Amino acid sequence: MIVAIDGPAASGKGTLARRLADYLNLPHLDTGLLYRATARTLIEHGQNLSDVHAAVAAARGLSLTDFDTKELRGRDMGEAASIVAAIPEVRQALVDMQRSFAARPGGAVLDGRDIGTVICPQAEAKIYVTASPETRASRRALELKGQGEAVDYQAVLEEIRRRDARDASRALAPLRLAEDAVELDTTDLDIEAAFRTALSIVEGKRSKAAARP
Ligand code: CDP
Ligand code: CDP
Repeated sequence: MIVAIDGPAASGKGTLARRLADYLNLPHLDTGLLYRATARTLIEHGQNLSDVHAAVAAARGLSLTDFDTKELRGRDMGEAASIVAAIPEVRQALVDMQRSFAARPGGAVLDGRDIGTVICPQAEAKIYVTASPETRASRRALELKGQGEAVDYQAVLEEIRRRDARDASRALAPLRLAEDAVELDTTDLDIEAAFRTALSIVEGKRSKAAARP
């Protein structure tokens, strides 16, 4: 079974995807890391984030095994990732890696922006996680504070809005709700409540798929 979790920044999709994967005993891929790692390679090499040729080479050179998530998870890298993610050739270069992961025996959980729409349109369960921009900014600010970073809530909110706009307006694979996805608004849900709701969606889809002739 393939579980596709999409949604905007800090909606809680990563937390949810990890919990579902643990519970269902499936491998999990945080696809945002692919775009973050591509951006990091360019920055490390002093290359421009809009250099298509260099960005494609960086994306092709990625390996799923060596992601240092702590560094990649930083705020600057999120913004840089959304710039390289708007390059169609970069997205194209990362498709096969994501589809092979999804094709693992038994299935997988993937989270990102275009899993249900482009990467795995055949996924049995698709959840589109949302929350108000203010809630998402507070969550991210709290998370950063916990990591010892000095944060300005207003700056985090602006960054989230900027990234939402860039992700939703790009030409290829923009952030949007797949027709057959279930929207899960977590504005008023804690992690546990969001997990329970998501699990019931996944189990509902799984029994439907099992009942199909
Ligand atoms: O965790 P957060 O939502 O803040 O970021 P992320 O999921 O790591 O994604 C970072 C950026 O990568 C996003 O703003 C998107 O521009 C891009 N991304 C994408 O375009 N497609 C995906 N499947 C995943 C991420
Ligand atoms: O992956 P994404 O950027 O969508 O979000 P995340 O990293 O899963 O969650 C961002 C922050 O919000 C984390 O610190 C989560 O613990 C927190 N969170 C929350 O407070 N309530 C939820 N329902 C989901 C996540």
